[in-house]
Amino acid sequence: MNKTVTILLASLLTVMVGCAGYEPLVSMRGTEVSAADKAPDQKPYSERSPGAGSPALISRTFTEQPPLIPHAVEKYEPITLKANDCLDCHISDEFKGRKMPKMGDSHFSKIRKETDGSPSVETSRWQCIGCHVPQVDAPALVENRFIGNIK
Ligand code: HEC
Ligand code: HEC
Repeated sequence: MNKTVTILLASLLTVMVGCAGYEPLVSMRGTEVSAADKAPDQKPYSERSPGAGSPALISRTFTEQPPLIPHAVEKYEPITLKANDCLDCHISDEFKGRKMPKMGDSHFSKIRKETDGSPSVETSRWQCIGCHVPQVDAPALVENRFIGNIK
């Protein structure tokens, strides 16, 4: 037998042995790779009103993270060019005599003021829910060993 034929036979044998141990691939979604996506379970968002007891603030996982919203937001949407109900509470540290988490300095314009001289919201911060989102209590889909840097 010449050398080329030997190599060819050896390769064929390897492929056959490989195929014997073949198991269909299962995706991380738990279905066949070619199967359509299953619709995810519907998880309800919190209906908790702002300031209605615990859970109060959700701890942040990294320094630059926009904090998650721990209360319902439906009542305050949509945010339009003229109206932003989020600001009723978050423009200062108090609303109707109750303590509120005030938005940081980064959210206020450094050059513009309102006509009455009060601080003006930075345009890039107007659409609050572009960065801040409410959270649902859903388990991680895959194991996650990420450790945040803020306790
Ligand atoms: C009626 C007052 C009120 C309104 C309106 C309101 N919030 Fe809040 N918000 C609160 C209070 C009070 C808290 C503190 C947590 C709690 O007790 O619910 C809070 C917490 C938050 C936090 C978490 C801050 C942190 O440091 O973790 C974010 C982010 C936030 N709100 C964003 C929003 C956005 C965006 C809107 C508009 C869609 C909004 N809020 C509308 C009162 C309000
Ligand atoms: C471009 C993204 C972005 C937008 C838009 C935005 N935020 Fe934030 N927000 C952040 C980040 C990042 C932080 C944390 C760092 C900081 O304070 O700047 C934060 C912090 C906050 C905090 C907590 C402040 C503190 O010091 O504990 C509140 C409350 C808040 N934002 C409310 C709002 C509201 C209300 C709006 C809409 C008027 C808004 N944010 C728009 C990114 C954003």
